[in-house]
Amino acid sequence: MIEGRFISLEGGEGTGKSTQAKALANALGKRGLAVCLTREPGGTPGAEIIRELLLTGGDDKWDLRTEALLFAAARAEHCAKLIRPALARGEWIICDRFVDSSRAYQSVSGELRDAEIMQLHQVGSKGLMPDRTFVLDLPETVASKRATARDRGDSDRIGSRDSDYHRAVMANFRQFAIDDPKRVRLIDARHSAEAITDKLFENIDDLLS
Ligand SMILES: Nc1ncnc2c1ncn2[C@@H]1O[C@H](COP(=O)(O)OP(=O)(O)O)[C@@H](O)[C@H]1O
Ligand SMILES: [Mg+2]
Repeated sequence: MIEGRFISLEGGEGTGKSTQAKALANALGKRGLAVCLTREPGGTPGAEIIRELLLTGGDDKWDLRTEALLFAAARAEHCAKLIRPALARGEWIICDRFVDSSRAYQSVSGELRDAEIMQLHQVGSKGLMPDRTFVLDLPETVASKRATARDRGDSDRIGSRDSDYHRAVMANFRQFAIDDPKRVRLIDARHSAEAITDKLFENIDDLLS
C-alpha cells in the first residue's frame, strides 16, 4: 500500500487556515481519497488536553521554554497516535498548523533558536515533516480584523498577543517559504476562499499523481 500524503496549513491567526483546511479536506474526499482533517495543538485526546493548557490563561502563564516543550509534547502525541498511523494506511492528512507554527511563534522572542525548536521536534516526533505546507499570507491588520470578527474580541492566550508580535510571526512564516520553496508555498490570502482553495490544488498537483 502506498503511503498517504501530509499537508499542513500555516499562517497567523485569522488568515483562513481552518477555512482552507476544511475546504481542501472536502475537495480531496470528493475525489475518493481517504482524508483525515486534524489540527494542532491537539488532534488526539491527550494532545487536546495540552492544547487547553496552552491556549487558556494569562500571557505569562508559561515560561517560554515550557511553552515550546508543551507544543512539542502535544505534537509528539499527535504524530505517534494519529498522523503516522493514518499515513501508513494511505490516508491524506490535512493539518491545521504543524511544526512551522512552533518555529514561527516560539522564535519571536529570540530566546529560542530555530535549530533548537527543530531539535525538540526531532526528539518528540522523529522530525516528521509535511509533504507540502501552505502559508496563508495576509497583512496583519486584515488578519486581525477577520479574527476579531470571528471571535468577537475573545481571542486565545497566544492570539491576544500584540500586533508587533503577530507581524514578526508572519515575517517568520514568509521566510520559511523562501528557505524551503519545494515544501512551503506562500499563498496570497486576500482572495476569496474559493479562489484560494483552487490555488492550493494547483500546488498539490505533483502529490496527486
Ligand atoms: N478568503 C477569505 N475571505 C474573507 N474572509 C475569510 C476568508 N477565509 C476565511 N475568512 C473568514 O475569516 C475568519 C478567519 O478564518 P479562519 O479560517 O478561522 O482563520 P484561521 O483558522 O487562520 O484563524 C473566519 O470568520 C472566516 O470565515
Ligand atoms: Mg483556525
